[in-house]
Amino acid sequence: MNIVVIGAQWGDEGKGKLIDILSKDTDITARYQGGNNAGHTVAVGEKEYIFHLIPSAILHKEKICVIGNGVVIDPKAFLGEIEDLKKRKVHIGPSRLKISGNAHVVMPYHRILDGLRESKRKNKIGTTGRGIGPCYADKVTRCGIRIIDLLNPEVLKAKLEDNLAEKNEIFSRVYGRTDFTFGDIYQEYLDYGKKISPFVCDTALFLNRAIDQGKSILFEGAQGTFLDIDFGTYPFVTSSSSIAGGVCVGSGVAPTKIDKIIAAVKAYTTRVGEGPFPTEFSTGLKEEIRNKGKEFGATTGRPRRCGWFDSVLVRYAAVINGVSELAIMKLDVLDDLKEIQICTGYRYKGKLYKDFPLDSEVFAHAQPVYEQMKGWQASTRGIRSYPKLPVNARRYVERLEALVKVKIKYISIGSKRDEIIAR
Ligand code: IMO
Ligand code: MG
Repeated sequence: MNIVVIGAQWGDEGKGKLIDILSKDTDITARYQGGNNAGHTVAVGEKEYIFHLIPSAILHKEKICVIGNGVVIDPKAFLGEIEDLKKRKVHIGPSRLKISGNAHVVMPYHRILDGLRESKRKNKIGTTGRGIGPCYADKVTRCGIRIIDLLNPEVLKAKLEDNLAEKNEIFSRVYGRTDFTFGDIYQEYLDYGKKISPFVCDTALFLNRAIDQGKSILFEGAQGTFLDIDFGTYPFVTSSSSIAGGVCVGSGVAPTKIDKIIAAVKAYTTRVGEGPFPTEFSTGLKEEIRNKGKEFGATTGRPRRCGWFDSVLVRYAAVINGVSELAIMKLDVLDDLKEIQICTGYRYKGKLYKDFPLDSEVFAHAQPVYEQMKGWQASTRGIRSYPKLPVNARRYVERLEALVKVKIKYISIGSKRDEIIAR
């Protein structure tokens, strides 16, 4: 069984926790897009781990993890993550972690360009500053450097020379700053290449051979549907295909091999960075939910914007991703509320929208139409079976299920591994 986990909102839906749980029953976990802009948190007992590039399944010692061709890899961040885990007694060798030679490399000029571009924009995106956009841009304009290139001094030299010739001109003429020197970057990245080389392979072949041998793969999505480069709230999106369709291009595993797609959604909505967010709280609830849900970015530490559950968005995500099951995360964060709102449509210039509007102007100014539900005002933290949930909590879950038109299979009621209800 090959399963995909994607986020159905703006990221941070709790994919890390879900992957940690589901990966116990699969052989291999693979990332297929994004880079170290992701921050996937896994809580094990009192310990908390945050993964940026390495799949969240790596804590299970007998499991194999893969970073596919669709991911952009910052080698410094990658090696740093391995070192940090080693300090915490999680040892990762090449037998347990494979990275694609075709994955593109985040270079120092990508990180700088990310910041400079943002500083010049009037409509800021609020990127994570990790160089993700510029790296994907180079991939598409065919001047990117791939992981395999770091293992070949001649190839790296030629590509880096071409890139620096262009980038230095852009940096000096457009942004008025000088210069990246070839020598330093060349040496640094050759050195990364040596350290990374044992992990590098053709991960598409590796995954497909594993499937042929009857092994099961779990695909770990990063970001969320509304950060997707095509279907998200463009231009306030990331630069990769974070929807389920991205699995195939980002891993080399064909659509015929995918069996199930699970969407992670929060019981409310959050967003980090800029961009429209119709159901965003404007009241004191903003701080209350942020603090209760510990809604601070796992990658940048920025406070997350919080709001009510938007069923229009999640329904759209269910369609685009072909979602088979939903996992509702962080339901417990709503435990104290007296009343809960669910967005079921938008109003703009007198017109009612029941679907995610095509025109971003409409979405940016949309007035949410809410349905109100009674809260349950009781703790759900210790509950492990669905019928034991307070009746109003079940009503809420079942209403979301009806609106999104997908079965809710998992309900998370805390950050720890066992704080989950499977229906
Ligand atoms: P996980 O995998 C939430 C957001 C950034 C910014 C926009 C573009 O933890 O869910 P980028 O650096 O990708 O060019 O920034 O995307 N963003 C995320 N928001 N969770 C993430 O990942 C995100 N990765 C990027 O805040 O608005
Ligand atoms: Mg995150």
